[in-house]
Amino acid sequence: MLNRFITKNLICFFILLPVVSIGQNLKDFHIDKEKEITKILSKMTLEEKVGQTCQITLDAVLMTNKEGKTIEPIKIDPEKLKEAINKYKIGSILNVSWHTLDRGVWNEILGTIAKVSKSEKLEIPIIYGIDAIHGINYTVGATLFPQEIGLAATWNKDLASDFGRVTAYETRATGIRWNFSPVLDLGRQPLWSRFFETLGEDPYLCSVLGEKIVEGYQGNGRIDDFHVASCLKHFVGYSAPFSGRDRTPAWIPKKYMSELYLPSFHSAVDAGAMTLMINSGVVNGIPGHVNKHLLTTLLKEEWGFKGFTVSDWEDYIMLETVHNVSSSIQESITLAFNAGVDMSMVPNNPQYKEYCDAMNKAVCEKDIPMDRLDDALRRILRVKMAIGLFEKEVKVDYPLFGSKEHKEIAFNSALESITLLKNSNNILPLAKELKVLVAGPTANNLIYLNGAWTHTWQGVDSSFNTKGCHSVLEAIQAKIGSSNVEFAKGAELYMENGWESSRLHEIVDFKTKAERSDVIILCLGEMPSTEKPGDIQSLNLPEAQLELAKIAYASGKPVVLVLIEGRPRVIQPIVEASSAIIQCYLPGDFGGDALAEILFGDANPSGKLPYTYPKYDGVIEFYDRPKSVDRSGKSNGFDAFDPQWNFGFGLSYTEFEYTNLTLDKLQINSNDSLNVSVTVKNSGKKTGKEVVQLYISDLKSSLIPSGKCLKRFEKIELNPGESKTLTFSLHKKDFQFADENGEWILEPGDFEVQVEKHKRVFKLN
Ligand code: BGC
Repeated sequence: MLNRFITKNLICFFILLPVVSIGQNLKDFHIDKEKEITKILSKMTLEEKVGQTCQITLDAVLMTNKEGKTIEPIKIDPEKLKEAINKYKIGSILNVSWHTLDRGVWNEILGTIAKVSKSEKLEIPIIYGIDAIHGINYTVGATLFPQEIGLAATWNKDLASDFGRVTAYETRATGIRWNFSPVLDLGRQPLWSRFFETLGEDPYLCSVLGEKIVEGYQGNGRIDDFHVASCLKHFVGYSAPFSGRDRTPAWIPKKYMSELYLPSFHSAVDAGAMTLMINSGVVNGIPGHVNKHLLTTLLKEEWGFKGFTVSDWEDYIMLETVHNVSSSIQESITLAFNAGVDMSMVPNNPQYKEYCDAMNKAVCEKDIPMDRLDDALRRILRVKMAIGLFEKEVKVDYPLFGSKEHKEIAFNSALESITLLKNSNNILPLAKELKVLVAGPTANNLIYLNGAWTHTWQGVDSSFNTKGCHSVLEAIQAKIGSSNVEFAKGAELYMENGWESSRLHEIVDFKTKAERSDVIILCLGEMPSTEKPGDIQSLNLPEAQLELAKIAYASGKPVVLVLIEGRPRVIQPIVEASSAIIQCYLPGDFGGDALAEILFGDANPSGKLPYTYPKYDGVIEFYDRPKSVDRSGKSNGFDAFDPQWNFGFGLSYTEFEYTNLTLDKLQINSNDSLNVSVTVKNSGKKTGKEVVQLYISDLKSSLIPSGKCLKRFEKIELNPGESKTLTFSLHKKDFQFADENGEWILEPGDFEVQVEKHKRVFKLN
């Protein structure tokens, strides 16, 4: 084993990796490779086959103390590793231990694992997977981007693919080739703890950006030394739990499954995504892991997915202990495997041994047909080959890991995500000479900017914060000078009995400092959290934070409210009195700097909400609602829709004027395309970026039509006085809807095109 010093000083710039020129995309997977797989399969014993379907967590092979706790700094236990690989023949390892590791340590771990897998007769390499969901967040010094909800708010396709590319590069620089990302679940349930991991509420936005991320991860053609296999999560419907709590049941009628939840997965599969993780929850009474229709009929047969599916954490156990659809481990494995699960994230020790034994038995007793097992194996081996794992190792240099170039891309992503929601009397941008009180519980720690899956699973341990990156307070100090800036926390966030809570903190100090400042920048938000620990009981921002805002307003000083939150928390009681409101989402390590840039006018905000921001705790609405949702008992009209801010909304420091919305035809046949043009002018005084959004409404159809639906968008930059004409081409698919069986149909009739407030109607014959 290498010593830490050598690791840190000699190995940090290159890592041993296989030659990749032979890796390839699954879409054009070569027939010779299939033959090679057939040959390998013919040599494999049942134990070897079963083991390939088994994924264990890194902790399962680490050294532990007498109490069974992992020893720090972590070390592989050679006996445990040999047992896992040489005896149980496991095919995959995932995760980190409890915190982020430096590249030297990763290199050492992966090298040790590779060495043991080479000692096997067939030398089938281990595929190692990690949740690099906003950058390779478990590697020290990596470039950390906004979480996906922020990336979605950029509405910038290039940034989405750059995010994927940089993350893939830095993941490879860490020695890992498989990323459990992107999350393509639709964000329509803000109570859900993983809302921040989604690309928001719209299936089109999610599909377009999701595809770009996959392209960034995997490259356009072959997987080379700088790309990784992506893993689409969590197929499908995971994000829609009725209770709002993680991993609880969702009800999704087939129509809405097709229109809302499936498109992002479908387009990413079409884009060549190599793997896919399954929904741990339940949809329409069927646990994701036993849904043969979704996993086999739809995904593998209809969509032609050639990669492999992996279960989520312990899901074969959950089938028995949580979902109660099976009475034994063997039965659970059989149900899941026959439904289409190819690899199981088992992942603990000794559970993985029970898994292997039970799976072995299930195959021997013919519960699982050998053909099914071979199909799973072929899929797993295909991916292992496609990412070059079977090839000879060469030294590859990764000089751009954590580089200025990468950080700039992360900074720009944060910058373009930040969304200006209110700006009374153009109070923003602020003059740099003002005396500023930076306040609030989320103002002075990077953990709030990054959220969960950052250095640790829940992301709450500040001791791992990236060195040299700025909190909001530090960024503002750097921007306008420390002498103009005071800080008062005012309130604290904490967990009590597993639930989030907040309390006021040194309020006299807060008031005194408010008294002597010109403006208060008040940073509110949420504790980092994900999965079960992130369950909440109400969307309302915890009481003490609302109270702190009211104390700030009472000072009579203008208040700029800064939201650092993974989901839209209801803030209606404090909207009116604030002078400006900025949504930062979870912008990552460079979010503080990006915010300071916008606050003081060195950048113009251009983020747009990727979701409908609710105004009331009990009313969750979506922009694409059918007309009946708007029906009001108060006015007898159709004006009930009353969100705090609508999907796609976001202000700028300049103004954009839309003119000349033109359709090239007013009547089309089903196979015609329709070209829509619009001219956008920057009629204000600052250079700015605008997201041009094109929506279509089907005015009448046999099933209630949705309201307007996003069909195209483009982010453009315009100088003052500059204008651009954009032309969008629409096709048959854009006018279709799903029937009650989830089948796509096209009905003739009138449709309305909308860009900004301009509308035109056309007829589909
Ligand atoms: C999460 C997945 C994640 C996996 C591995 C699970 O609990 O649901 O999203 O990829 O853990 O960390």
